Amino acid sequence: MRKNIVAGNWKMNTTVAEGVALAKEVNEALKAEKANCDVVICVPFTHLCPVAAVIDQTVLGLGAENCADHTSGAYTGEVSASMVASTTAKYVILGHSERRQYYGETSETLREKVALALANGLKPIFCIGEVLAERENGTYNEVVRRQVEEGLFNLSAEDFGKIILAYEPVWAIGTGKTATAEQAEDMHAFIRGVIAEKYGKEVAENTSILYGGSCKPSNAAELFAKPDVDGGLIGGASLKCADFMGIVKAF
Ligand code: 13P
Repeated sequence: MRKNIVAGNWKMNTTVAEGVALAKEVNEALKAEKANCDVVICVPFTHLCPVAAVIDQTVLGLGAENCADHTSGAYTGEVSASMVASTTAKYVILGHSERRQYYGETSETLREKVALALANGLKPIFCIGEVLAERENGTYNEVVRRQVEEGLFNLSAEDFGKIILAYEPVWAIGTGKTATAEQAEDMHAFIRGVIAEKYGKEVAENTSILYGGSCKPSNAAELFAKPDVDGGLIGGASLKCADFMGIVKAF
């Protein structure tokens, strides 16, 4: 059975002190009231160790927002998958649209990152999603199919089973404009069908597919009620404990 997951993506926000305080607050809230889903926070590299020191990862999972596409060596400024794993983090967001758009990440580099993440025991949260023009010209299904095929379909079925997918329509990220629950469900069901074509129905049914893009306490329940929406990847609303917990409680 696939898991329901609510994951926060803090992006480039908070100082270390602010991030540690936020992580502690979320951790305490989850200890006080057990969640009906897995809960994860993905934080800046600088925050991984200090956050790991103050949370209980059996209650609140920890992840990075990226990792390098090389194992080690002369790549100034990069952080490898093994470095992320050495902080005790268990997750890594890969292929976020902001990385694709601003840092030129391609399916080719993402395949390297996914392989290195898996080799180091990290669970990738692999992001896909169309831009507004692709939504409007009706090519969104094919765009997302290509992102899934090119980024992930080199994996064995066993390795594919370790991937969490996040559908994030780029036009819904940070815009306040959420996909409707029907738009999300249509795309998630389509993605599950694409996975089934390649890996079979069982693998497809076991894959968690999260929705991301202006998800907040007021719309999470409607989105998560859809059969193929297995949770959310939360940006802005993950930066306030009450908002993030409001989304967690939608399960
Ligand atoms: P917002 O929730 O701020 O729209 O961001 C979504 C996102 O990009 C999560 O990865």
